[in-house]
Amino acid sequence: MANTILIGAQWGDEGKGKIIDVLTDGADVVVRTQGGNNAGHTVHIKGQKYILHLVPSGILRKKKICVIANGVVVDPLSLVEEIEGLSKLGINVDRNLFLSETAHLVFPYHRELDAQREIFKGKNKIGTTKRGIGPAYGDKAARTGLRVLDLVNPERFKKQLEFKIRENNEILKAFGAKPLSFKRVLEDYRAAGDYLKRFVANTVILLHQAVRRGDDILFEGAQGTFLDIDHGTYPFVTSSNTTAGGACTGSGIPPHRMDRVVGVMKAYTTRVGEGPLPTENAEIADMLHAMGREFGATTGRPRRCGWFDAVATRHACMVNGIDQLAVTNIDGLDSVETIKVCVSYRDGSKRYDYVPNDIEILSRCKPVYAEFAGWRAATHDARKWQDLPAKARSYLKALAELTGADLAIASVGPGREQTIFVS
Ligand code: GDP
Ligand code: IMO
Ligand code: MG
Repeated sequence: MANTILIGAQWGDEGKGKIIDVLTDGADVVVRTQGGNNAGHTVHIKGQKYILHLVPSGILRKKKICVIANGVVVDPLSLVEEIEGLSKLGINVDRNLFLSETAHLVFPYHRELDAQREIFKGKNKIGTTKRGIGPAYGDKAARTGLRVLDLVNPERFKKQLEFKIRENNEILKAFGAKPLSFKRVLEDYRAAGDYLKRFVANTVILLHQAVRRGDDILFEGAQGTFLDIDHGTYPFVTSSNTTAGGACTGSGIPPHRMDRVVGVMKAYTTRVGEGPLPTENAEIADMLHAMGREFGATTGRPRRCGWFDAVATRHACMVNGIDQLAVTNIDGLDSVETIKVCVSYRDGSKRYDYVPNDIEILSRCKPVYAEFAGWRAATHDARKWQDLPAKARSYLKALAELTGADLAIASVGPGREQTIFVS
């Protein structure tokens, strides 16, 4: 399978977890390289639903090495809870999960500051997941963050935490929020550190050993291209590089060791949180929500929905170097009579075939649509390309052509088996 970077090509929730689970069959190692527990990756196996937040989605297959690498921000309490939750479902991670000692930690003051800043912004809020992701990456960039290797060094950790709580309580007080108890946070984090220390490793060395063995490594992207801190719809983005480069910096594996980039995209578009979404459409949102679909895996919020935006996915192909596409949720369009696809943006007399950087311009942009006849038939039992209705095949071919990469995978349901490999 070679070393594969898997990236969300839209605004997150493209179905990365499902595709990672499918591709893990042919991989040896699965690595999370950025983001934190703002991610919610859903995998359905034999009627059981799993939602992964920090643990790589490859964990659901036996004997695969799973790595939470240096680029991830880790809320240790949330990670313990996730590992315990998996254990209750019969998934034991003891032998195959590794946690980077240089991953930065998320603390309660990060979560509280995330929430307070959102309140302070009022109607200009980002609509974050309130998991403390922005403030944690902020500390990392300001060189004042604490890392996993601090957590497992109790004496040093105590001193560092005492300072951080004192500093952040001053900021929380200024927001009118309740200060945190140092003693309580120390107790909780010491317990989590004791629990997690068996997973802690130098994951750069571990991953390079895997490269030397010739292992196939799968880099599991979190969030999506337009939530990238550099390439997304800033400031309505997350605080990490969700694009392909993030897989290298977030793991320590250099670019020339990467063999392919797979871009995951829905057959339509969704976004959760604020910020521009050019093809947003109330009708398609109502239809998908009535089907019980498109509610956030992390926060449960209803996702905003719209038609497929080929301007955005083409742009995503460009910045990520996507070679292959995995199109998911094709079955979501089974009942639609006429399907629209955005092929360019129009702002007055100006046309765009790329995503403009200024979100004021992007927010004004009107989609220019091409129309496709819907197939109006159930696709969820299709297992081979030829099983799909001819109109569905034409639609998918058009998406690949407009996006500019090869269609490799078509997904017609949340289950592992509801996957078509397109040769
Ligand atoms: P991720 O964050 O990219 O891993 O995506 P999420 O798990 O947050 O959201 C994707 C949703 O779509 C989840 O509920 C998946 O179970 C579901 N899903 C993925 N592929 C398909 C598909 O082809 N059809 C249907 N019906 N659901 C899918
Ligand atoms: P997965 O990996 C969809 C969005 C939030 C918000 C913005 C910033 O499941 O695709 P943050 O909490 O990161 O500071 O929020 O980013 N967001 C996601 N949207 N899927 C995700 O992850 C997301 N992670 C963050 O809704 O708009
Ligand atoms: Mg998700």
